[in-house]
Amino acid sequence: MDDGRRWDARHRDAPPAVPRAPDGLTGLEDALPDGGRALDVACGLGAVTLWAAQRGFTVDALDASPVAVARLADQAVALGLAGPVRGRVADLTGGLPADVTGPYDLVVCQRFRDPAVLRSLAGLLAPGGLLVVTVLSEMGAPAPSRFAAGAGELSALARTSGHRVLRDVEGDGRATIVLRRTGPGPGSRRRVPREHDADERHGRDSA
Ligand SMILES: C[S@@+](CC[C@H](N)C(=O)[O-])C[C@H]1O[C@@H](n2cnc3c(N)ncnc32)[C@H](O)[C@@H]1O
Repeated sequence: MDDGRRWDARHRDAPPAVPRAPDGLTGLEDALPDGGRALDVACGLGAVTLWAAQRGFTVDALDASPVAVARLADQAVALGLAGPVRGRVADLTGGLPADVTGPYDLVVCQRFRDPAVLRSLAGLLAPGGLLVVTVLSEMGAPAPSRFAAGAGELSALARTSGHRVLRDVEGDGRATIVLRRTGPGPGSRRRVPREHDADERHGRDSA
């Protein structure tokens, strides 16, 4: 059975999503861009998608579970957010769909870990765009999990030129990074000044 079908049963029985900011953004709310395009990676029932849509973003919401995407669409209608919410069934094993290229003003990936997907996210940001990632981590986890990121795995993603690290924390079984794109991005050949790169490192926050 594929990932989506495996998750369908859980999504079918869960209560509808209530709009909710990504966990990693707590205390950094001022860093949120004023709307634009957003991507919610492995959106589930869409709590983050609905929250972003309420804040003026048009949201591409991807998940492997057809039940999750259908229930997100229903909830978007119920909340008057059908226009800005664009749900799509997509198995993200090994990478994002080829036509998901950005640029995005906000990219969120919460509680889903695929190394190829994670590596691609910073490159989707528009200048000034924000990336918020929270995944399970083996650091401080009560028990090993095959879904958990290895120590330093997310921090390595934060070492992307042209991005400022606003948060890079790991412990208690979770890892979070929050990056803002300041420069032209990893695909560009333009030089990015070093002072815009990570001046807040592992375990420290900064708005
Ligand atoms: C723990 S939930 C997180 C949902 C949401 N991001 C949140 O924070 O509430 C993990 C999500 O990943 C989705 N998922 C699992 N495997 C996937 C895959 N290979 N491709 C895309 N989505 C997948 C599941 O359907 C589920 O919605």
